[in-house]
Amino acid sequence: MIRGPIRIRTLAWILAGLAVLAVVVFAAGLSPIGAAGGHSAAARWILHTAMRRSVAFHAMGTEVPDLSAPGLARLGAAHFESGCAPCHGSPAAPTGGAAQAMLPPPPDLAARIPLWTPAELHRIVDEGVMMTGMPAWPARGREDEVWAVVAFLRKLPELDAEGYRALAHGGPEGSSRGLALPADPPFADCVRCHGTGGRGPDDDATAPGPIPRLDIQPRAALEAALKSYAAEARPSGVMRHAAAGLDAATLAGLAARFAAAPRDPAAALDPAGVDETLLARGREIARRGLPARDVAACDACHSPRGERVRDVFPRLAGQRRSYLEAQLRLYTADPPVAGGPRAELMIQAARHLPAADAAAVSAWYASRAPAPR
Ligand code: HEC
Ligand code: HEC
Ligand code: HEC
Repeated sequence: MIRGPIRIRTLAWILAGLAVLAVVVFAAGLSPIGAAGGHSAAARWILHTAMRRSVAFHAMGTEVPDLSAPGLARLGAAHFESGCAPCHGSPAAPTGGAAQAMLPPPPDLAARIPLWTPAELHRIVDEGVMMTGMPAWPARGREDEVWAVVAFLRKLPELDAEGYRALAHGGPEGSSRGLALPADPPFADCVRCHGTGGRGPDDDATAPGPIPRLDIQPRAALEAALKSYAAEARPSGVMRHAAAGLDAATLAGLAARFAAAPRDPAAALDPAGVDETLLARGREIARRGLPARDVAACDACHSPRGERVRDVFPRLAGQRRSYLEAQLRLYTADPPVAGGPRAELMIQAARHLPAADAAAVSAWYASRAPAPR
C-alpha cells in the first residue's frame, strides 16, 4: 500500500538535496558561463521564450502613432546605418565581422521583423534585451525617435541594397542625387541627415519631416546644441549617437561649417494644409503669448528683432513645422524632456501652452522666411 506522507517527505528531501547541489555548483563557480561553445538548444529556447513573453507583455496597450508620417522611416534608416547596422548588418552590408562573435550573435533583422508587432519592436528598441548586448535606446523619454526606427524596421524586409542606400544615405552609394558625398568623417555622417547645406537630405532638402534645418541658426546656437547632446544633457538618442566621441573643437568646427552654409531663403518646408485661422492664432501667440495662461511671447526670445535675443537662442522662422511641434511636445511634457544649456528658460516660457496652440505657433514660424544673418 502506498503511504502518501512518506512519499511527500521523500520528495521534499530530494528537492532540498538538488537545491543544495545547485547552490554548491553555483558558488564554487562550476556553472558554465563561457561563450565558446555557443548556447545549448535548451538555453536558447529559455532565453528566447523569456524575451518573447516579456516583450509581448510590456508592449500591451502601447498606442502606435502614424508610422507613414513624412520623413519618419528615413530618419530611422539613417540612424540604423550608424547605430544598428554595425551589429545587425543591412541590405547594403550583410552581417559579418566582429559582432557575429557575440553571444547570442545579433540576428539578421530582415527575417525577424515580421515576427513582431510594431508595439513589440518599439519595446525591444527602447529597452534593449538583457544579457545579450542589444542596447537600450540612448535617451529616455524619446518614444518619438524610437518610432522612427520602428517605421524603418517595418520597411526593412522589402528593401534591396539600392533601396536601403536611398533611405539611409540620401541616394545611391557614394552620392546624394548625384552629388559627391563629402569623404571627411564626421561631416559625412551629419550630411546623411542634414545634407551638405544643413537643410535636410540632399536629394530631398525641401521635404517635410522630423529633422531640423541647421542653415537658419546662428553658429553659437548650433554649437550649444551639439555640446549638450555630446554631454548627454539634451536627450536625443539620434544626436547623442552622432555627437558621441567628438571633441569640443570638432563640434565647434561642425557648427561653424553648417552656420556658414548658404541660407536658403525659402520658408515653409512643411506647409501642408495650413489655414489662415491657424496662422493668425500662431502669430498672436508668437507676438503676445497667452497672458492668462502665463505663456510668454515667443518672439521676445526667438525673433532676431526680439528684446532678449542672443545668438545662443535658436531661431524658429523657416524651421520645419513637424520639428517645432515635436520639440514643443518635449518642453511641455510632464516632466519636461529637455536638457539644453538654457532649457529652463524655455520650459518656464511655454509650460502651459496647450497642444492646439503649439500646433498653431509651429505652423506660423514654419511659414516665415528665415531671418537674414
Ligand atoms: C552591440 C550590438 C547591437 C546593437 C548596436 C544593436 N543590436 Fe539589436 N540585437 C543585438 C543582439 C545580440 C540581439 C539578439 C538578442 C537575442 O537573440 O535574444 C539583438 C536583437 C534585436 C532585435 C530582436 C530580434 C529577434 O527577433 O530576436 C531587434 C528588433 C533589434 N535587435 C533591433 C536593433 C535596432 C533597431 C538597433 C539600433 C537602434 C539595434 N538592434 C542595435 C545586438 C545589437
Ligand atoms: C540619423 C540622422 C542624424 C545624423 C546622422 C545627425 N543628425 Fe543632427 N539632428 C537629427 C535630428 C533628428 C535632430 C533633432 C534632435 C532632437 O530632437 O533634439 C538633430 C538635431 C541637430 C542639431 C540641433 C538643431 C536645433 O535646432 O537645436 C544640431 C546642431 C545637429 N543636429 C547637428 C548635427 C551634426 C553636426 C551632425 C554630425 C556630427 C549630425 N547632426 C548628425 C538628425 C541627425
Ligand atoms: C525667455 C526666452 C524664451 C521664450 C519667451 C520662449 N523661448 Fe523657446 N527657447 C528658448 C531657449 C533659450 C531655447 C533653447 C533651450 C535650450 O538650451 O535647450 C528655446 C528653444 C525652443 C525650441 C526648440 C528650437 C530648436 O531649434 O531646437 C522651440 C521649438 C521653441 N523654443 C519654441 C518656443 C515657443 C513656441 C515659444 C512661445 C510660446 C517660446 N519658445 C518662448 C527661449 C525662449
